[in-house]
Amino acid sequence: MAVERTLSIIKPDAVAKNVVGQIIARFENAGLQVVAAKMVHLSQEQAEGFYAEHKERPFFGDLVAFMTSGPVIVQVLEGENAIAQNRDLMGATNPQEAAEGTIRRDFAESIDANAVHGSDSATSAEREVAYFFNAEEICPRG
Ligand code: PPS
Repeated sequence: MAVERTLSIIKPDAVAKNVVGQIIARFENAGLQVVAAKMVHLSQEQAEGFYAEHKERPFFGDLVAFMTSGPVIVQVLEGENAIAQNRDLMGATNPQEAAEGTIRRDFAESIDANAVHGSDSATSAEREVAYFFNAEEICPRG
């Protein structure tokens, strides 16, 4: 299996609930490494640009409003099969459909306040990592 990088966002609801450390522990315990991280309060423009692919979807306005409602932690996770592994750890988009033991099942309240984001493909991961981090800000752990 290939070593990959993926973008993870700990969303405003999880930051407000003070469960950042517990969520990062899930990644680390699964063998993923944090190779870049920062806390950001997204602007409207940053959130709209990040979610541009969802621009036509009915929830776009709600999603942007939520993602700009408070600070988030953006991180690059690195590891074997990191993109799919992160999605497995997160669980289904709707926390009510998320499997037991997943981050969304344990920490999320609703489909719009669902604790975490993770890149859904290699193409998305490449775009999303570059959206928040330049090469000097990523520190491979070897
Ligand atoms: S996914 O993760 O792309 O497969 O899920 P998808 O259903 O396509 O949703 C894309 C992102 O939109 C968020 N979302 C919503 N936000 C607000 N209100 C409603 N109803 C809603 N439905 C979906 C969902 O959490 C996804 O956000 P990210 O940050 O990509 O996980």
